[in-house]
Amino acid sequence: MKIHTIVNSTPLSLILPSGMTTLDFIRDTLGLKGTKEGCREGDCGTCMVLVGNPENGQLRYRIMNSCLLPVADIDQSHLVTIEGLNMEGLSAIQRLFVSEGAAQCGFCTPGFIVSVTGYLLSCQKPHYSEALAFLSGNICRCTGYKAIERALEKMLNQLDIPESGWGQFNQRIGWLIQNQILPEYFLHIPTRLAELPTVQKTQKAEYYSLYSVAGGTDLYVQRGEDLEEKEIDRVTGNDMKGITELDDGRCSIGAATTISELTESEVIGRFIPHFADYAGLIACTSIRNRATIAGNIVNASPIGDMSIILLAMNASLLIEDNEGQRETGLLHFFKGYKQFDLSDGERIKAIILPSGNCDWFFNFEKVSKRTHLDIASVNSAIHIKVVGNFIVEVFVSVGGVAPIPLMLHATNRYLKGRELTPELVDGAISTALSEISPISDARGSTEYKRLLLKQLIRVHFERLSEFLTQKIAIR
Ligand SMILES: Cc1cc2nc3c(=O)[nH]c(=O)nc-3n(C[C@H](O)[C@H](O)[C@H](O)COP(=O)(O)OP(=O)(O)OC[C@H]3O[C@@H](n4cnc5c(N)ncnc54)[C@H](O)[C@@H]3O)c2cc1C
Ligand code: FES
Ligand code: FES
Repeated sequence: MKIHTIVNSTPLSLILPSGMTTLDFIRDTLGLKGTKEGCREGDCGTCMVLVGNPENGQLRYRIMNSCLLPVADIDQSHLVTIEGLNMEGLSAIQRLFVSEGAAQCGFCTPGFIVSVTGYLLSCQKPHYSEALAFLSGNICRCTGYKAIERALEKMLNQLDIPESGWGQFNQRIGWLIQNQILPEYFLHIPTRLAELPTVQKTQKAEYYSLYSVAGGTDLYVQRGEDLEEKEIDRVTGNDMKGITELDDGRCSIGAATTISELTESEVIGRFIPHFADYAGLIACTSIRNRATIAGNIVNASPIGDMSIILLAMNASLLIEDNEGQRETGLLHFFKGYKQFDLSDGERIKAIILPSGNCDWFFNFEKVSKRTHLDIASVNSAIHIKVVGNFIVEVFVSVGGVAPIPLMLHATNRYLKGRELTPELVDGAISTALSEISPISDARGSTEYKRLLLKQLIRVHFERLSEFLTQKIAIR
C-alpha cells in the first residue's frame, strides 16, 4: 500500500505492507528510537504516539499505542513521535519531568510526555483528575508515580489559559507553541496535510477475511506477528462511522465508531445516560481512541464491556454482505464461547439501540483488579422501566459467569410486572445465581464470581432507588 503521511515535520510517501505496525515503521523503517517497545500488547504506553486527523472541520490529535496501530491508519494523517515534540532545549513538560525527578530509567518517559502533550491538545479545560485519568494507559515501573503526578500538577497549575478558553485549533496550537509545549511547525500541519497526494485505499476485500481490522486492539494482541507483513482489509470506512437518531426514534451507531467517539456523542448521552462515566472503566484513553464497538462484539469475550452494556440496552445488529442486509438481536448473536452468528462474507454495519428509553434507568458496574487497563472479573448492566413502583420492563446482563456475555432471562422474567420491594431484590439475586455457571480462573474463583454478581445486582437496585423518587430500602 502506498502511504502518504507527515511524520513530525516531514511529509513522506512510502510503499509499506498495510498491516505493519506503526511502532516498527517508526523504529525500524525510520530509525526513530525515541518511541519505545515494551509489551507490544497495548498495556504499557511506552510506544505512545499522537495521530492528527481532520474531525468536524478541524485537526484533532489523539494518543494511540503505536504497537497496535497498522500503518494503513496513518495514511493522510499527522504522526507525532517524541522526536517531533523536541525543540531547541527541552519542552515545558520535559523540564518539569526533570525538575520533579519524574524520570528514573527513562523508558516510560517518552510515552508520558506524548500523553501529557496529547491531553493539552485535546482537553476542553485542563483539570488535574481528568489529566490523571487521561494518562491511565501509561505505566512506570520505577518512580512510583508520585513524581510524575507532581510534574503533571505543576504543569497544569502554571498554565495561564486565556479567559475565553482555548478557542479554535490555531489559537490552541499558537498558545501551546508560545508556552513551549509544541514546536512551531505544528501551525502549518493542516495546510501541509491538505497538500498530500490523494489516498490510495487498499482494495476492499469481497469477503470477511481473517485480516479484517477495525481498531486492531484485539487482533494485534492475538495475531500481531501474522499481520506484520500482510495487506489488511480495513473495516472502518465512513459508511461504518457516525451516530444518528433514526426517523423511527431508534439510534444507529456505525460499527466502526470508537469508544471515545461514543463518549463524546450527545446522541449517545440521550440513549445511554452517563455513558461517558461507564466508558471510563473500559481500558484506557489510547485504547478507547482505537477500540470500535463492533470489534468489542465480534471479539465475543464473555466479559466484553460494550457487549454487556448493549445486551442490557436490548440492542440489535445490522449485518451486511455482498448480497444484502439483515437485522438480528444482539441477544441471539452469541452462540457459544467465541462463537457467533456471522457467516463468511458478513460484517456488522451498525448497532441499533431501541427508541423510547428516556424514562428508563440504566446502570453499568464492573469489578476488575485495577480500575484502568483491566478487563472485568464480573461486569453487569441493568436497563429498567419502573412505573408507580412496578417494574414494567427490565433487562439485566452479566459477563464473566458463563461462556458468553449473558442476558439473565429468568431474572428478567422474575422481575417483570412485580412491585419493587427489598424482598424482590433478594428473589432476583437467587434467580440470577441459579442461571450462571462461572468457572475459576485468573480473574477469580467460582465462589468469588457468584459473590460479585450478588453484590452487583444489589448495587444496581441501590442506584435505581437513588434515581426513583420513591426509595426502596435495599438489604
Ligand atoms: C490494553 C487493552 C485493554 C483492554 N481493555 C478492555 C476492557 O477494559 N474492556 C473490554 O471490553 N475490552 C478491552 N480490551 C479489548 C479490546 O480493546 C476491545 O474488545 C475492542 O473493542 C476491540 O475492538 P477493535 O476495533 O480494536 O477490534 P479489532 O481488533 O480490530 O477486531 C476484533 C475482531 O472483530 C472483527 N471485526 C471488527 N469490526 C467488525 C465488523 N464491523 N464486522 C465484523 N467483524 C468485525 C475483526 O475482524 C476481529 O476479528 C482491551 C484491549 C487491550 C489491548
Ligand atoms: S509497547 Fe506496550 S503499549 Fe505498546
Ligand atoms: S522511569 Fe523507569 S519505567 Fe518509568
